[in-house]
Amino acid sequence: MPLLKSTFLNTFTKKMNMQNELRPKVLAILNTNAEVNARLQDICDLLQENISYYDWVGFYFKNGTKEELKLGPYSGEPTDHTIIPFGKGICGQVALSNENFIVPDVKAQDNYIACSINVKAEIVVPLFVNGENIGQIDIDSNTPDPFNKDDEDFLEFVNKQVAKIL
Ligand code: SME
Repeated sequence: MPLLKSTFLNTFTKKMNMQNELRPKVLAILNTNAEVNARLQDICDLLQENISYYDWVGFYFKNGTKEELKLGPYSGEPTDHTIIPFGKGICGQVALSNENFIVPDVKAQDNYIACSINVKAEIVVPLFVNGENIGQIDIDSNTPDPFNKDDEDFLEFVNKQVAKIL
C-alpha cells in the first residue's frame, strides 16, 4: 500500500478506536452518583487527556433566561470568556443556529473569540434537552484542521448522554 494511504488509514483507525474506546468510559462517568458538575468535569478531563488534538474541552450552558452562555466545567487553560452573548463567536453562533460548527482554521473566521494564540481549530456541538438547545460542548485544538464527521458523531453521542443527567 502506498505510504500516504497507509498513514491516512492508520490515523483514521486510531481515531475511530480512540473515540469508540472512550464511549463506554463516558457512560461509566455519567452513571455515577457524583454531582452533575463533577461528572461533567470528568468528561472534559477524559476527552482532553485521551484525544491528542483536544487541547481544551469545555461545556457552556444558557445562563438562566439571559441570551448568553456561561462557562461550565472545562479542562485546559483557563479562559477569560466565561460569558458569551448569543451570536458572538463560534459558541454564540451555535447557540442560535442549533447546528454543529467545525472551524478548520480559526484565522479565517470573522466572528471568532480567541481564547489562546495557540488555538488553530475549533468544534462546537449543541446540547439539546427535550429538543431545546440548552448549551454546547466546545473543543479547541492546537492542531490545524483536525476535526471531521467522527468528532461530530462522537461529541453528539457525548451530549446525548449528558442530556440524560441534566
Ligand atoms: N472560541 C470561542 C470562545 C470560547 S473559547 O474557545 C474557550 C468562540 O469563538 O466562541
